[in-house]
Amino acid sequence: MTPSRVHILPDDLVNKIAAGEVIERPASVVKELVENAIDAGATRISVEIKGAGKKLIRVSDNGSGMTREEVGLSVERHSTSKISGADDLFHIRSLGFRGEALPSIAGVSVFELRSRAGNNGSALFAEGGKDKRIEDAGVPEGTSVTVKDLFFNTPARKKFLKSDYTENGHIGDIVSRYVMACPSIAFSLTIDDKNLISSPGSGELKDAVIAVYGVEIAKDLLEASASSGPVKVSGLVSRPATSRVDRQYENFFVNGRYVSNFLLNRALEETYRTLIPGNRYPVAILFIGIDPGMVDVNVHPSKREVKFENTQQVMHAVREAASSALKRALGTGAPSAGPGIGAYGETYQREWRPEMADALFPRTGQELPATRIEMEVSAVQPLIPVHQFRDTYIVTIDGADLVLIDQHAAHERIIYDRLSEKRPLDASQPLLVPETLELSPKENAALEENLEYLRSLGFDLEVFGNNSYILRAVPAVSARSNAKQMLSDLVSELMELGRSGKLEEKKERIRKLVACHSAVKAGDKLSSIEINGLIKDLYATANPTTCPHGRPTMVRITEAELEKRFGR
Ligand SMILES: Nc1ncnc2c1ncn2[C@@H]1O[C@H](COP(=O)(O)OP(=O)(O)OP(=O)(O)O)[C@@H](O)[C@H]1O
Ligand SMILES: [Mg+2]
Repeated sequence: MTPSRVHILPDDLVNKIAAGEVIERPASVVKELVENAIDAGATRISVEIKGAGKKLIRVSDNGSGMTREEVGLSVERHSTSKISGADDLFHIRSLGFRGEALPSIAGVSVFELRSRAGNNGSALFAEGGKDKRIEDAGVPEGTSVTVKDLFFNTPARKKFLKSDYTENGHIGDIVSRYVMACPSIAFSLTIDDKNLISSPGSGELKDAVIAVYGVEIAKDLLEASASSGPVKVSGLVSRPATSRVDRQYENFFVNGRYVSNFLLNRALEETYRTLIPGNRYPVAILFIGIDPGMVDVNVHPSKREVKFENTQQVMHAVREAASSALKRALGTGAPSAGPGIGAYGETYQREWRPEMADALFPRTGQELPATRIEMEVSAVQPLIPVHQFRDTYIVTIDGADLVLIDQHAAHERIIYDRLSEKRPLDASQPLLVPETLELSPKENAALEENLEYLRSLGFDLEVFGNNSYILRAVPAVSARSNAKQMLSDLVSELMELGRSGKLEEKKERIRKLVACHSAVKAGDKLSSIEINGLIKDLYATANPTTCPHGRPTMVRITEAELEKRFGR
């Protein structure tokens, strides 16, 4: 008889396969262990990381703990204390319910679990899900899980991990979300012996938000709440002035579980649409309370996504919560105000003051090498400005042609080139009032890495305690920018690039962003001296016809084109 080709896979292999779905990276381990600690009713959870979680992840809690028998069961597949029948699947209130996390983690690591229920402690050891042994052990209250050498037996997965910086970032993200989800729990996150987050567990959402985002963001948040049928939304949303460059700061929790759901992001962003520019995003920490029967949490292997029975209703409640908070803070009708209105707009539509002229058009004192100005323009006979159209475009004459210059794009090009010059910049411009800047641990890491370059550009940034800085000066070319906004955008951008990004690429992005923030804006009225300076400086650049982002700085209408259009 030939042996059957169909056979049941051994447990350790099954766990490895399951781990592929549930445990993508060190942060997934952290997520599962923290969720277990929360489910166990802990009021204190500490997370310790070494080597970006590849060397060590330890999550300790003071929750209910497990008996020796439970400890043994906990690492078996489909063992859970959280549901018992199919009905329960539709009424899930706990974060876990599948009984998959611990066996999956144990299957791809050197695993150790210590737990105590009552007076009896026990410890379980396993390697790659094999050679399990349990012994009695002296254990402090609660449970502590230690995961070493993650993915040691799945090298392909290990290879897919990103840099330590990125993996630590993901870990910081996960912990941050749960710090905000559970303000009554005192969390601490330590990465390579450095304490990055510690929340007081006071039960106040604001305190938890401070632990994650710092006082500055927290103080700009508005209380928000609304309900729509059985859906209740409550939490905090930002004033328009506290907008960010990405969605990272939009947090949604459904029945206490952090979820990502694009429709919720959209509902929130719609509310801010006329208050902040299209490429900026609000800060929000919103809790959605809903009958567990009306939301399916079992639709994603790592439970990151959920499906609502009535998504429209949830979106409506989110919009309501945000818009009523904004209305209360900004006056009625605020969220439907016209474009450009709102606190953010104001910071950019500041009045032109003559003393800004020097910062705007600092002289280089350099004469142009003749070869630089061949393009479509002649420097010998520079453009003659005739009008500033809509305070945005400069109408000029170039011989027989008409040339329109986009003042913002042109100024961006000038500043970008100046920042790229090898020689040190002329000066930095001290701020009238130094700004303090509080960063999240992840942001701090991103900034620290580029601090030297920023300083070389003229930023005077002084370290001020844990994750905080004082900004005393900006590059001279940035005198008219909103310094704080600029720096906080820089940090977000650097974070996005991650540690893996190339150094030169980062420097370039920094220069582009500084140039964009520092340049005159569309709508800024310019004097004729400024207009002349702008044109002259533009021609002194290596690429006067495009801005650093590649858009044109000028549009030329030739004499021939005009004649054609007038049918001459
Ligand atoms: N920190 C802890 N404190 C107390 N009990 C725990 C802890 N971690 C795990 N357990 C117990 O071990 C069981 C298995 O945990 P595991 O994370 O594998 O599954 P789960 O949480 O039930 O479901 P899921 O796979 O969705 O996370 C849990 O149901 C719980 O009873
Ligand atoms: Mg679990």
